[in-house]
Amino acid sequence: MRCDKFSAAWAGSHVALFLLTAVGQATADVTLTVYYAPGQTPLADGTVPDASATPTAYDDSLQAYSTATLVAPAAPNATAMPTAFALAVPSAVPAGASIEQSGSFFGFSVEMSVVNQVLGKNSSLLQVPFLNLMANLQQRTGRIHVRVGGNTQETATLVESTSDGKILEKDLTAVSGTTDTPPLIFTADLIQMMRNISDLVNVHWFLGVPFNDTNWRLEIVETGQAILGEFLIGIQAGNEPDLYANHGRRPTNYTQDDYFGEFGLLIQALDADTSVQASKLLIAPSVSTNWSPESVLSAGTGFIPTYGSSLEALAVEHYPSDNCGVAFPDSGIAINDPQSLLSTYLSHGSATSIVSPYLNTSEVAQTNGLPFYMFETNTASCGGFAGLSDAFASALWGVDYAMQMAAVNFSTALFHVGGQSVSYNPFTPPPTNESTFHQWTIGPIYYSALVVAEALGASNTSQVLDLNANSGNELTPAYGIWEHGALTRVLLINFANDPTGASTLQVDLSMPDGTLPSTVNVKLLLANNVTQKGNFTWAGQTFGGNFQSDGRPIGAEDIATTACGVPTDGSSTTAACRINVPAPGAALVFMSGTAAADEIAGAPSVTFSTTSVTKVVVATATVPASLLATSNGHGGNGTYQMIQLGSTSKGSVTSAGASIRALPAWAILGSAVAAALGILSTNVW
Ligand SMILES: *[C@@H]1O[C@H](CO)[C@@H](O)[C@H](O)[C@H]1NC(C)=O
Ligand SMILES: *[C@@H]1O[C@H](CO)[C@@H](O)[C@H](O)[C@H]1NC(C)=O
Ligand SMILES: *[C@@H]1O[C@H](CO)[C@@H](O)[C@H](O)[C@H]1NC(C)=O
Ligand SMILES: *[C@@H]1O[C@H](CO)[C@@H](O)[C@H](O)[C@H]1NC(C)=O
Ligand SMILES: *[C@@H]1O[C@H](CO)[C@@H](O)[C@H](O)[C@H]1NC(C)=O
Ligand SMILES: *[C@@H]1O[C@H](CO)[C@@H](O)[C@H](O)[C@H]1NC(C)=O
Ligand SMILES: *[C@@H]1O[C@H](CO)[C@@H](O)[C@H](O)[C@H]1NC(C)=O
Ligand SMILES: *[C@@H]1O[C@H](CO)[C@@H](O)[C@H](O)[C@H]1NC(C)=O
Ligand SMILES: *[C@@H]1O[C@H](CO)[C@@H](O)[C@H](O)[C@H]1NC(C)=O
Ligand SMILES: *[C@@H]1O[C@H](CO)[C@@H](O)[C@H](O)[C@H]1NC(C)=O
Ligand SMILES: *[C@@H]1O[C@H](CO)[C@@H](O)[C@H](O)[C@H]1NC(C)=O
Ligand SMILES: *[C@@H]1O[C@H](CO)[C@@H](O)[C@H](O)[C@H]1NC(C)=O
Repeated sequence: MRCDKFSAAWAGSHVALFLLTAVGQATADVTLTVYYAPGQTPLADGTVPDASATPTAYDDSLQAYSTATLVAPAAPNATAMPTAFALAVPSAVPAGASIEQSGSFFGFSVEMSVVNQVLGKNSSLLQVPFLNLMANLQQRTGRIHVRVGGNTQETATLVESTSDGKILEKDLTAVSGTTDTPPLIFTADLIQMMRNISDLVNVHWFLGVPFNDTNWRLEIVETGQAILGEFLIGIQAGNEPDLYANHGRRPTNYTQDDYFGEFGLLIQALDADTSVQASKLLIAPSVSTNWSPESVLSAGTGFIPTYGSSLEALAVEHYPSDNCGVAFPDSGIAINDPQSLLSTYLSHGSATSIVSPYLNTSEVAQTNGLPFYMFETNTASCGGFAGLSDAFASALWGVDYAMQMAAVNFSTALFHVGGQSVSYNPFTPPPTNESTFHQWTIGPIYYSALVVAEALGASNTSQVLDLNANSGNELTPAYGIWEHGALTRVLLINFANDPTGASTLQVDLSMPDGTLPSTVNVKLLLANNVTQKGNFTWAGQTFGGNFQSDGRPIGAEDIATTACGVPTDGSSTTAACRINVPAPGAALVFMSGTAAADEIAGAPSVTFSTTSVTKVVVATATVPASLLATSNGHGGNGTYQMIQLGSTSKGSVTSAGASIRALPAWAILGSAVAAALGILSTNVW
């Protein structure tokens, strides 16, 4: 049962302060100027006095910031999980490895009703942390896929303007269906905002055409194509049509054949619309639980034979569990207990059981030359589980699940971003009325994204195979990744939770048909335990806890170097690289080249400075003229020190941990610098 409820927190009105830092001409040094919100007058030294009306507390009643924790499963014994094992991985691509995957495999799905929280306020006020989060991935993969849509796309209507000038509004008085999803109206500036983001970071987008009835409202397609151009990849037509009857959007007798017929009507309408380029545009059938994809593909005169020329890709959506019983107490839906489900997520069986119903469709897609998308997914629908969806367990789960999807030939997987009333967000902006002193909260799924981004890399040639490691032990999955036909990386996961250290894996990695390098680089995904919230680390870097991130990783990158060869302790006579994987944790082993070289293969990192610009901040930055001179869109290749903006937290709020720690000078400003400067830094609302 899929029944997401979005962001009740958004219903209220918000006090917001808007500070925009703009930039002068890109000549020599550039000084940023802070514009204050109305009523705020800077003092002579550039600071603004603290106002008594400034909020001093944060609202952790919102599910996205819940501090609830679960109890970790007991450590496995040696029978349940042998800790020392050999893993022989061929240098050449073995049979059964996946199609060639792109680095953009792991993307995001942003519920349409929260885009003005997550992406920006409008086309001239972008969320800088979002840009940084995308830039981190772009550095590793070259490109990111983001879908804007979800349940709320179905009733969305493009309008000339809204009464209060916002790009998106909800009509809360007209809630319909059982998902509590209010109809949306939005302006073209929402799409302009997406385009402006793509001009800064290489995000490509999916949108959805409203399908709540067959009085087609095609404006989102027309405007989407006109404004986004090549950055628009495809249009979803029907979001979980198998649940339309449950959600009251269609009569209870609504069938696959009905959807088939309506899909044909939509194609006719698109073909008749001279403002639309309709070929290879649509994404379908996006079914979740009630209908199998096969049942839709075989409807009518056959979905692919009939509509193939209009299809961009096949897609499904899936959440392995739901929190609907809690989200909708009156629904009578059974309540799932996250504590008893925790060990299910800490098992390779979760990933393999999710993909198994889709293996046939994956093959059908490939046979027909169509990509196959997991268009919306996450730990659990109806907001996910506090204590599970937001804990380290989900970071490991997300890595295993995404790699499993890659291994079985999905070609893109989009992890959903709801609002402040959900637990599973990869990243969550602070509540609007707290954005002057709080920053973003980075969830476990974003760490999964980073790991998978590096595992797949930027070559577009990554083939993935589930290695069935440790005799298929469910706690210790592993994947091989081959690029340009040769083994380049191995990913190892340890799902066990064992603070004693006794469950640390000792994996002897060998390459029977090739020569092992004398050393390999290893990066670790770590936390103290599977129930930890926040402060996870990937290669030593973190995004902190609740409200602590501006989207840039903090801390020095820690890449271990492990020697390979015949073990000196006599435990084996086979040359191997002995990799330790803590319990819990994941390790990415770089079999060739260095981790740093692989990482940089995507695109130069672009970072966007932000501060939690309170009223006491003056942000100034200096950008070397040489940097501006050499920036050239996505191809810059110089390495530059990141400018560091002054940053200040609201002094009185220490418990919330709003301080931005000193930023390491790790960041590289390369591509799109000149454009970036247009909005560089300090958007606050
Ligand atoms: C922000 O708004 C929410 C929802 O209206 C409220 O519960 C919370 O207390 C507010 N936070 C502050 C710091 O005023
Ligand atoms: C090891 O753990 C498994 C699974 O929890 C259990 O069935 C088995 O009895 C345990 N064996 C020993 C020797 O404790
Ligand atoms: C975006 O919002 C800001 C603050 O409300 C406003 O000043 C600006 O004009 C808006 N930009 C656009 C393009 O509407
Ligand atoms: C579909 O959504 C539009 C926009 O919200 C609304 O005007 C229309 O009445 C809806 N159709 C149905 C059948 O509810
Ligand atoms: C399905 O239900 C609708 C409304 O209840 C009804 O008008 C229609 O005839 C039914 N269709 C079939 C095929 O039974
Ligand atoms: C695979 O899917 C196709 C079409 O979607 C269907 O015709 C075929 O029967 C399915 N095969 C299996 C084994 O389910
Ligand atoms: C994925 O595609 C490759 C290439 O066609 C194929 O060899 C492999 O068997 C497929 N995997 C699955 C699980 O279908
Ligand atoms: C990977 O694919 C994307 C999308 O098709 C393309 O833009 C990019 O240039 C490709 N990267 C490489 C290294 O070929
Ligand atoms: C898990 O790790 C966190 C962070 O270090 C710690 O606060 C918590 O007490 C640990 N939980 C258990 C059960 O050890
Ligand atoms: C994360 O680490 C910071 C700094 O060490 C600490 O202040 C904060 O409480 C931690 N947050 C969590 C959720 O453990
Ligand atoms: C980028 O690298 C190429 C090839 O190494 C070199 O020719 C070019 O000058 C470099 N550009 C910059 C801006 O450093
Ligand atoms: C963003 O969009 C506006 C249109 O609202 C455009 O005028 C502006 O130049 C764009 N900004 C950037 C930084 O691309």
